[in-house]
Amino acid sequence: MGALRDEIKKLREDFIKGTLTDAAAKANPFEQFELWLSQAVEAKVPEVQAVHLATVSNEGKPSSRIVYIREFENNIFWIYTNYNSRKAKELLQNPQMSFTFFWPELERQIRIEGVATKADKAQSDNYFKNRPRESQIGAWASNQSGVLKSRDELEANVETIRKKFEGKDVPRPDFWGGFEIKADYYEFWQGRKSRLHDRISYTLEKDKWVIRRLAP
Ligand SMILES: Cc1cc2nc3c(=O)[nH]c(=O)nc-3n(C[C@H](O)[C@H](O)[C@H](O)COP(=O)(O)O)c2cc1C
Repeated sequence: MGALRDEIKKLREDFIKGTLTDAAAKANPFEQFELWLSQAVEAKVPEVQAVHLATVSNEGKPSSRIVYIREFENNIFWIYTNYNSRKAKELLQNPQMSFTFFWPELERQIRIEGVATKADKAQSDNYFKNRPRESQIGAWASNQSGVLKSRDELEANVETIRKKFEGKDVPRPDFWGGFEIKADYYEFWQGRKSRLHDRISYTLEKDKWVIRRLAP
């Protein structure tokens, strides 16, 4: 373990792959997001659609986990989950949230903050309809974030649901669906040499995106 600690302490990467100049930063952060996302796809960043989602409980306690961003348009992002899960309960009590992407292949981080509301039922239905059948069954079978007695309990639930919907389409459960996230803050971080990174933030102020350069 001492060797592991020494190893981790010694890890020190210098970032040299790119720059983010004021001139290159787009006027609209969503365009900047799409540009960086397309470059991450091109660079074959694994699980590029996976993002850290941070939520905050009513008591002010933060929690975070990875989710997939499934749709995005015009500064709005959609994620899908179980409405009884910890994250969903927190978002329903306190809609303030944040996303963090980290794409090491490009030495980039993107932070997004915003406000979440439940997605339209029609949109959730449409997304659910196009999920693989096994995922649809899983949505019914898993009381996400609830405590299980054992793995067997989960697998038995899956079997029960499989039988229930045999030969039929699997409908979307009411307790499962999307959240629509309206972004009001972005920060684009490009790693640079000697920790002198580029950071450009966009804050929505009176319906206008205000751009600032932040110290690294
Ligand atoms: C790569 C990856 C993608 C995931 N995508 C989702 C997702 O889109 N929706 C979701 O509810 N959970 C997703 N999860 C699981 C969550 O990280 C988490 O375990 C689960 O949602 C329960 O979180 P909660 O108890 O904080 O609500 C994903 C996990 C990983 C590692």
